[in-house]
Amino acid sequence: MTDLLRIEGLRIQFPGGSQMRDVVSEVSLAIAPGEAVGLVGESGSGKSMTARAVIRVLPPTARVSGEITFDGAPVLSMASKQLRAFRQKDVAMIFQDPSVHLNPIRTILDFLAEGMRLRGVTGDAARSRAKSLLSQVLIDDPDRVLDSYPHQLSGGMLQRVMIASAIDGEPRLLLADEPTTALDVTTQAEVLAIIDRLRRERGVGLLFITHDLELAAAICDRTVVMYAGRTVEEQGSMAVHRAPLHPYTAGLLVSRPHVSQKQARLQVLPGRPIAAYEAPGGCSFAPRCAHAQPACEAEVPAFRALAGGHVACRRAEELRTAGLLKEVTHAES
Ligand SMILES: Nc1ncnc2c1ncn2[C@@H]1O[C@H](COP(=O)(O)OP(=O)(O)OP(=O)(O)O)[C@@H](O)[C@H]1O
Ligand SMILES: [Mg+2]
Repeated sequence: MTDLLRIEGLRIQFPGGSQMRDVVSEVSLAIAPGEAVGLVGESGSGKSMTARAVIRVLPPTARVSGEITFDGAPVLSMASKQLRAFRQKDVAMIFQDPSVHLNPIRTILDFLAEGMRLRGVTGDAARSRAKSLLSQVLIDDPDRVLDSYPHQLSGGMLQRVMIASAIDGEPRLLLADEPTTALDVTTQAEVLAIIDRLRRERGVGLLFITHDLELAAAICDRTVVMYAGRTVEEQGSMAVHRAPLHPYTAGLLVSRPHVSQKQARLQVLPGRPIAAYEAPGGCSFAPRCAHAQPACEAEVPAFRALAGGHVACRRAEELRTAGLLKEVTHAES
């Protein structure tokens, strides 16, 4: 089966001082039709840039190379007409803060009708379509919401409106960039349930970006972990939890607070996250890794198949067999 989305060796650079600086150095991932893939990593690891590259909405100074294909068609070389059709019909993106994408002096109906106008749907037909979209995101008083301005609605309601707008073009791929980070826990659960249901009912492929491995596992089939602009691990979401392959993933898991496993002291992943251009030679995680050896700093580890997934760590088999991936703190600290 052809992958719906395939990203291969993606590199994104920005001008920095006298040279170009990598913010994404080597990202590869694939999404099958109807599959949900989580993209997880700390701040600055390049998650949003990766998603933006898929719909080609990067800042104009960005230089992009590598390959992105949608249903076999190369996205990076699409001419403007083809790109417009791709964005209108095939793919949609939702963001962390919906209010940034809504005009404060226009109603929700104006916002939803904008995309419809491009397809020749106007007037009563547009209102009726907008009502139906809002009911699909479980808004039970669509008329009130359609006539509201963004400031009159809660964050959770605005995110539902964004999802309604995203599904209007019946896309086959949805890119969701931390869509629930700004919401309270109960609203977050409602919005996640809506995304999950729409994905299953419509067979839409989903790229779900989050900082949170558990959130990714809750709605994604597979999870891809990024560190400093590279994909470092990819596995089934449940396998990532039970048996992470990369010391970084293991670090993310043990440094998450658990009420049920109250510890005298919470384990903390030492050091701070870095951007791709700050990465040293060799494995970019080595300076923070409790298991790093001099050889880890010598060359960038290949992203290779292991245990049904993929990992970029030269010691992965050894650490896994020895059960050492629960230790994230350096022995000497
Ligand atoms: N316009 C820009 N010019 C130069 N560098 C940029 C620009 N936009 C983003 N970056 C850099 O690209 C890197 C990756 O950014 P990106 O937004 O993809 O991270 P992220 O993984 O989505 O992080 P977060 O979890 O905070 O959203 C960061 O180091 C960021 O500072
Ligand atoms: Mg981001």
